[in-house]
Amino acid sequence: MSSINNVKQPTQESLKIAAHALQAGELVSFPTETVYGLGADARSDTAVASIFEAKGRPSFNPLIVHLPDQEQAEQLVYFSETAKLLASHFWPGPLTLVLPRKPDCAISLLASAGLDTLAIRVPANKLARDLLTLSKVPVAAPSANPSGQISPTTALHVATGLGDKVSIILDGGPCEIGVESTVVSVNDDIVTLLRPGGVTREQLEKLLGLIKTAAPDSAITSPGMLLSHYAPSCPVRLDATGKEKGETFLGFGPGTEEFETMNLSPASDLAEATANLFAYFHQLDKMGSTAIAVASIPNVGLGVAITDRLQRAAAPKK
Ligand code: TXA
Ligand code: MG
Repeated sequence: MSSINNVKQPTQESLKIAAHALQAGELVSFPTETVYGLGADARSDTAVASIFEAKGRPSFNPLIVHLPDQEQAEQLVYFSETAKLLASHFWPGPLTLVLPRKPDCAISLLASAGLDTLAIRVPANKLARDLLTLSKVPVAAPSANPSGQISPTTALHVATGLGDKVSIILDGGPCEIGVESTVVSVNDDIVTLLRPGGVTREQLEKLLGLIKTAAPDSAITSPGMLLSHYAPSCPVRLDATGKEKGETFLGFGPGTEEFETMNLSPASDLAEATANLFAYFHQLDKMGSTAIAVASIPNVGLGVAITDRLQRAAAPKK
């Protein structure tokens, strides 16, 4: 049974408790503009190991380290000119850069899962930034959900999934973007999209010209892109135009009002649909849906990240 006693409203006092918990090597959940993170001191092997343990996450799946600014990132990894350009345009914000570790990088090798690169992100969310600044801890944080399940976009989602495993959950309200950061690797001037997310390919290509895409589920380039992921406990059917027996229908855009249970965005707004996606999945799961049919989503802009998550939600579970 999970507890919600450790969910705290953001105050100077709760921020201090969370910062001390991080400094003591404990697990802290905090909001970011994308999803809630399950954070711990990225320099400590034991703290990082406890993240993997709490989530039931395979140890070959590396973590993102969260920092308050680029300057601190530059102490850990090498920034090419292209990496600097990306950071200056998209940080703070929902972009994660996978860059070569420096030889004296202070971050636990466990966070890199044995790779010689490290994923870094400077989040925009104010509470996340306050926590990073106050604690002075580089925070390794995956999404705060049991591995394979739906990512949390509210403090209650975290409490329900992992509540008793974390020291404190800072409640910053619903996440603004609602889907994880975009992950790119940067090798000198070669940029490869590893995971679509809150920064769109169109935004990246406007800045850089054409970028590469990692082969789907390539073990080396994107160890974390497991095929079944972000999944509710029941089967999910995509590109549905109607409802079959026993299904609940998750709509997008107008025209399905008579049989839909929920609609990601009646006005076909992709940002609104992104913000609602995980929260609606959590709700449909909680309602005891035995099968979910989802309307088709345009595969452009933020729709690429939605489509990616839907495909993983619909993939057969192992
Ligand atoms: O929005 C987000 O990114 C959230 C919030 C909490 O910041 N975090 C998040 O973390 O989604 P996680 O652990 O669920 O996803 C991290 C992704 C995985 O796909 C992982 O494989 C990839 O980043 N990754 C991390 N380090 C990597 C590396 N060195 N090389 C390639 N991929 C890496
Ligand atoms: Mg995750």
